[in-house]
Amino acid sequence: MSDPTAIPATGRPVDDIMAEIDAERSDDLDWRGGKAFSLVYNAADPELDRLHHAVAGEYLHDNALNPFAYPTLLRMERELVSMAAGLLGGRPRAGALTSGGTESIFCAVQTARDVGRDRGVTAPNVLVPATAHPAFSKAGHYLGVDVRRIEVGSDGRADLGATAEAIDDDTVLLVGSAPCYPYGLIDPITDLAALAADNDRFCHVDACLGGWLLPFWEELGEPVPAWNLAVPGVTSLSADIHKYGYTYKGASVILYADRDVLERQHFIFDDWPGGLYASATTAGTRPAPPIAGAWATLQHLGHDGLLDKARVVRDATRAMLDGIAAIGDLHTVHEPEMSVACFTSATRSIGAIGDVMDDRGWHLDRQQEGLHLMVSPGHAAHVDQFLTDLAAAFDNHGEARDSMAAYSGTADG
Ligand SMILES: Cc1ncc(COP(=O)(O)O)c(C=O)c1O
Repeated sequence: MSDPTAIPATGRPVDDIMAEIDAERSDDLDWRGGKAFSLVYNAADPELDRLHHAVAGEYLHDNALNPFAYPTLLRMERELVSMAAGLLGGRPRAGALTSGGTESIFCAVQTARDVGRDRGVTAPNVLVPATAHPAFSKAGHYLGVDVRRIEVGSDGRADLGATAEAIDDDTVLLVGSAPCYPYGLIDPITDLAALAADNDRFCHVDACLGGWLLPFWEELGEPVPAWNLAVPGVTSLSADIHKYGYTYKGASVILYADRDVLERQHFIFDDWPGGLYASATTAGTRPAPPIAGAWATLQHLGHDGLLDKARVVRDATRAMLDGIAAIGDLHTVHEPEMSVACFTSATRSIGAIGDVMDDRGWHLDRQQEGLHLMVSPGHAAHVDQFLTDLAAAFDNHGEARDSMAAYSGTADG
């Protein structure tokens, strides 16, 4: 028997490898079945799926490290940034495509840190609400920036008073989410941005989750407080196309109110024998499929397609939240402003309810305070089954198996 942790001594035929993968994939998250509530934004759109496979195959080996070698990718990237800017209140050339929300957030923290250095800040700090994504703390960890998490108010949103008090000479950036991942709440962006501007600081809106959905949510007539780059004082914004823009993984945008700040993100180096090396984001080699995939997705869906999907998500979210509220004492921890929510019970073990749902094939992430829902179009056809199973789980569950609140992991444990 060969050692599966070592490179095989002789190569294996394609069919053999694919058969092994197929056999083992049954243990992987089955998002196509409509029972998973994180990690994948299931557009439930076979034509879009077909497009994704075709585009990814077409660009499989191309490398956008040097966009000038690929005029098609350069054009797509520029058009993507323009489309995002048009949607999100930005400027056509004041942004870049990144590999995801984390990279966009890294860029925002890096540029704020470096502009802070111009006014002599040597030990920069960034103020984020406690609900902000861990990517800010990760960016701080890598970039030598002290990311301070400020307790949110009782409404679950950024606490303006506490944030104002926390600003000091070394603060380079204030952050708000639109919405935050744990509860689906939009921080008071107008006030946060005004606070930042009054203090001559930067303000980043993390719209990784909402950037490609909230504009359509508004268009559907849902109440959405001001949240994008058009808000005075907002200096940068991140929005992931690989979330509610329905492209496959590896596409987000970081946008700036001022193109000069984008330039602080660029890295240009010629002190090696290999010639001038320039890059616009943290990556070196950049896979082309996510760029082409994001572009093709927006071409295929168009504004109408995104609006239609938003409607499906909105209706499914409403049906789910209304249904949840009708089961025993289940309730959302905070009333969400989009399609993402945390729900719990005061009388039953929510972990035990989650266990029964796991046993019935659902995948609801555990948070500290409850179970997490992130609704995508693929859930619409499964709302009734979800609510039936949840009601049964509420009525009949054992002790919690103690699944810990976890969002992700590392390959070595
Ligand atoms: C609000 C928010 N910000 C940032 C991120 C990080 O995005 P990514 O996982 O694409 O790096 C996420 C991911 O879910 C998110 O929900």
